[in-house]
Amino acid sequence: MRTDTSPAILRSNYAPPNYLVDTVELGFDLDPALTRVAARLTMRRNPDGRSNEIVLYGDAVELVALRMNGKPLTRRAYRLNGGELHIPNAPDEVTLEIETALQPDANTSLMGLYVSNGNFFTQCEAEGFRKITWFPDRPDVMARYTVMLRADKRAYPVLLSNGNLVEEGDLGDGRHYALWEDPFMKPSYLFALVAGKLVCQEERITQPSGREALLQVWVEEGNLDKTQHAMDSLVNSIRWDEARFGLELDLDRFMIVAVGDFNMGAMENKGLNIFNTKYVLANPRIATDADYANIEAVVGHEYFHNWTGNRVTCRDWFQLSLKEGLTVFRDQEFSADMVGTDSGRAVKRIDDVRVLRQAQFPEDAGPMAHPVRPDSYVEISNFYTVTIYEKGSEVVRMYQTLLGRDGFRKGMDLYFERHDGQAVTCDDFRAAMADAGGRNLDQFERWYSQAGTPRVTVATRHDIEAGTYDITLAQSCPPTPGQKTKLPFHIPVKVGLLAATGADLPLVLEGEDAASAPTTRVLELTEASQTFRFTGIEGKPVPSLLRDFSAPVILEYDYSDDELAFLMANDSDPFNRWEAGQRLATRRLLTLTRMVQDQEPMRETTANLETYTAVLHKTLDDATLDPSFREMVLTLPSEGMLAEQMDVITPQEIHTARQFMRRLLARTLRNELVQLVDLNQTPGDYSPDALSAGKRGLKNVAMLYLSELDDTDTHAMAQAQYDQASNMTDRIAALSALQNSSAPGRQDALERFYTEFEDEPLVIDKWFALQATSPATDVAAVRALMRHPAFSMKNPNRARSLIFSFCNGNPSRFHAADGSGYRFWAEQVIALDAINPQVSARLARTLDRWRKYAPALQSQMQDALQRVAATPKLSKDLSEVINKSLA
Ligand code: PHE
Ligand code: ZN
Repeated sequence: MRTDTSPAILRSNYAPPNYLVDTVELGFDLDPALTRVAARLTMRRNPDGRSNEIVLYGDAVELVALRMNGKPLTRRAYRLNGGELHIPNAPDEVTLEIETALQPDANTSLMGLYVSNGNFFTQCEAEGFRKITWFPDRPDVMARYTVMLRADKRAYPVLLSNGNLVEEGDLGDGRHYALWEDPFMKPSYLFALVAGKLVCQEERITQPSGREALLQVWVEEGNLDKTQHAMDSLVNSIRWDEARFGLELDLDRFMIVAVGDFNMGAMENKGLNIFNTKYVLANPRIATDADYANIEAVVGHEYFHNWTGNRVTCRDWFQLSLKEGLTVFRDQEFSADMVGTDSGRAVKRIDDVRVLRQAQFPEDAGPMAHPVRPDSYVEISNFYTVTIYEKGSEVVRMYQTLLGRDGFRKGMDLYFERHDGQAVTCDDFRAAMADAGGRNLDQFERWYSQAGTPRVTVATRHDIEAGTYDITLAQSCPPTPGQKTKLPFHIPVKVGLLAATGADLPLVLEGEDAASAPTTRVLELTEASQTFRFTGIEGKPVPSLLRDFSAPVILEYDYSDDELAFLMANDSDPFNRWEAGQRLATRRLLTLTRMVQDQEPMRETTANLETYTAVLHKTLDDATLDPSFREMVLTLPSEGMLAEQMDVITPQEIHTARQFMRRLLARTLRNELVQLVDLNQTPGDYSPDALSAGKRGLKNVAMLYLSELDDTDTHAMAQAQYDQASNMTDRIAALSALQNSSAPGRQDALERFYTEFEDEPLVIDKWFALQATSPATDVAAVRALMRHPAFSMKNPNRARSLIFSFCNGNPSRFHAADGSGYRFWAEQVIALDAINPQVSARLARTLDRWRKYAPALQSQMQDALQRVAATPKLSKDLSEVINKSLA
């Protein structure tokens, strides 16, 4: 049974707007139960438009009055169909006055104008502005906004909107007002307002041009002790964008506001960024090192949007990756530059690649696969995906790999020179890169138009006599929905060759001059298959392929275990050093998984495992490597990563095999692990810098391994750390080590943790998530946690901390053989959909790859999906995901 299908919007149907908007004046009378909005738009006919029909969009917003050029429009003068309002035969110059009425306190979708903890917030990307007023709500309509806010002064002392505050004052009846003016043209999705009881930390900065700016971080009263890191991150972001891209802050005032109810991470509204509290609030007591790093990245991301997204925006939503892929690339580079060291940079790269492989590769191989620039969508909210963001970032990174850092910068300069103030396409960005670099990047377009993860298979051949070494690269890409066959991509493959000594060999391609040959070079694969011949290679080298993960592909090469161990010990490219270890571990883990599937006893010591543990030993002892890098090496591929390597996924068996390996490593490396815990203490004041965080990370991953041994020594170690912890990183790590064991203090610690942090919602989220992802927690236990007074379905962070964490982060319990996890999932998806379609549609994605699982699980997953599909009145968001999953 299928739900009704909403029509798909097609990229090929793009047409420029018939009317452009020059100015927008908005007046808000804010009241949670009934807010009135008056809009006045000055519009004029677009010479590129198709007709003199004005098209406005509205979504669940009551139209109170509509006037054109001063006269009320009669019901016959316009046509309303669903979410569209058409005014045919409009004059060339038009002033529209539109009055609407809304109920912010009844708005649980968190799109448009809504109330969170008594304060007003807006969220307009992608199509939320139409929940506030009828409007040509599309990104290629850019206008200048003036916003008048009126509200009760005691309940809403702070009134914020985009741009500059030009006037404020009292209205006499206990109400007050503020008038804001944004000097920049912007699309409606970047509009924002905030009103309520908030306080701020502020700082003034001077920019290289001499321009001064006021920076503010706004939070609720009790959170003023948690804003310093966000402020520091903002200042660092501003400095970085000046230094790396020559881009200055263009505003007199730049504000960040934290809100506890938010669908996503944060939003780049012009001059008034609105953030999920999770990505603003931090102090050592409540935030982990990972939180600190995420805050830095997200503050950077939203700030960088000020140029890549706001100054130059998207022509239409199919171009979403134009701003998102580029801005993710920028925030990744920012975070890497903030670390500084080589192996520290590599850790950032590894982290990013892990997300790509664990989330984007599966998406690209499933029913929701779409190109970086999609061709169609039903609900645009469903396309804020890892493909648009993370694969999009990889695509931007490839420009830099192909053109070099300076070449890339020239391309960026040209992009802004050409398009500042415009709404443009991914093609425009590619053209700027190609023109600035003097390169033909026509074939590169396929990274935007073809979905699926390309596979690059490598074959090598060494000719001792001739001293040549051939690398043959062959590419293919599997079919994806709507795209049966694919044409070859333009793939930059960074390679190196290691001599038996472990040193990098100079790389001279046949026909080239041997002088000053580099030791890493980019091979450009553009055909289905190509051979590159290196000369002057005496002994047989070991190839280091796809260094720094130079392209978002799956690379296959038949390394021997010894070669992998050799790369793990010697590769000058830290990414590939790590990668070699992961390949070795993956092999072992897949073999073990097969043993579990075949009900064979897992053999404890195989020669292979020794190769792996021996080299692991060496890496862990290597004090020249950043602690965070060693932590990465010590971390086994996740259960999800392993699932990706299997034709038929059996989650229980993966879990059993991985746990077996963890225990085995804990036993084999026990002394080293204990030493790592001792040597990587970080006494004194907490600092979130990369080195200190790396030490804590390494120490805590070691402690978690040791907890697998489940003996009194390791219990005592975790308990001591829990009792003495002076920061959240150490505290939560110890708590999770305790939970992962039968330590006597385990329940008590969990309860004490709750009581201690009862008033810190972000910490209570961690408390739920920790339990939700514990292999000891089954569906019944999750249901019990849902009855906890602190649980709420309406708050997205809370719903994610328990329900999403369980469904996505506890595979051995979620995929219980009796299907109880799937029935739970269906119930929650349906319940959430009535509250917040964006959240339910996200959770729905959990089962979209049901066809990859073992048959017994598959049929139960299908039942769960069908149960959701058969539910009446599903949101457009949810039905798109469910329909595509079942298609
Ligand atoms: N544009 C936001 C970002 O990437 C994400 C977002 C999308 C937030 C839609 C809210 C709604 O920074
Ligand atoms: Zn973004």
